[in-house]
Amino acid sequence: MSKPKILIQLDGDEHASLFDAVVAVDSEIDHLFQYHSVQTEQVRDLIHGAMFTRGPQDLHNTAVFIGGANVAHGESLLQAATKCFFGPMRVSVMLDANGANTTAAAAVLAAARHVDLSQSEALVLAGTGPVGQRAVRLLARAGCKVRVASRSSERAAATCEQVRENVEGAVLTPLATNNAKETAAALEGTNLVIAAGAAGIELLSAETLAACSSLRVAIDLNAVPPLGIGGVEVTDKAVDHDSVICYGAIGVGGTKMKIHKAAIRKLFSANGLVLDAEEIFEIGRELEAAS
Ligand SMILES: NC(=O)c1ccc[n+]([C@@H]2O[C@H](COP(=O)([O-])OP(=O)(O)OC[C@H]3O[C@@H](n4cnc5c(N)ncnc54)[C@H](OP(=O)(O)O)[C@@H]3O)[C@@H](O)[C@H]2O)c1
Repeated sequence: MSKPKILIQLDGDEHASLFDAVVAVDSEIDHLFQYHSVQTEQVRDLIHGAMFTRGPQDLHNTAVFIGGANVAHGESLLQAATKCFFGPMRVSVMLDANGANTTAAAAVLAAARHVDLSQSEALVLAGTGPVGQRAVRLLARAGCKVRVASRSSERAAATCEQVRENVEGAVLTPLATNNAKETAAALEGTNLVIAAGAAGIELLSAETLAACSSLRVAIDLNAVPPLGIGGVEVTDKAVDHDSVICYGAIGVGGTKMKIHKAAIRKLFSANGLVLDAEEIFEIGRELEAAS
């Protein structure tokens, strides 16, 4: 008889994410064990508890989900977890701190429904944040040229450096966009824009959007008014506004939720899977292909 499916939630925050807990329960697991305020040096003992309790033939029924608001901390927890594994003694691990991987994957998948990413030039507004950085990484991995915008050219350049370390040959341009004129110049000649700014901040006005003749797809991830892109509704899902296909945060959110649940289910298909941005994006691609 197969062992019950146990998901272990490791979260760096004071309270382990309730959102992640609900999604876990909705993803056909049997038990959820939650750990909060997890520090990197505590991961080894926690992972040992997971990997030394069941034999290798049953370890695919134990998996780890790493969440928390801080993506850099989540990456550190992931690294500490994977360092513990050897031979067949490993469990599958998924990283989705701040929802960054599932959200960026859903946004890039939405774009890929309408344009060939390998032939595209994209602008990612607020490309420095957790979600924006992941979106830049996935776009670059798909062969898209990416302009990475921030209020600070230094922060934009730092993000480009980080992504280049991850994606060999990435074609990235850091830009500062602090006013409508700079944003219009950054948008000029692109066919895709993703706005990944903080909640309640408009980064791109309806006028600037309408003035860009090369644009085909506009995706806004901010669900809190004022929204990130003027004229794009939060529920838009492939809605045509003056020949630009638009998605709002809720329009992208449905795909994000499907990817999140499918990724958790996938954790229990084998031991030793490591699901980070690219693997989670691939799960989204498989879902799209099957639908
Ligand atoms: N649809 C979904 O399912 C889903 C899931 C998760 C997140 N989200 C949304 O996705 C968006 C991105 O998430 P995140 O966690 O990466 O966001 P974040 O860390 O809160 O902010 C992203 C970036 O926004 C810029 N920013 C912050 N305050 C600003 C201001 N006052 N004016 C202009 N720019 C400002 C900053 O870039 P610079 O300092 O470099 O300019 C920051 O790095 C958010 O709106 C979030 O709510 C959606």
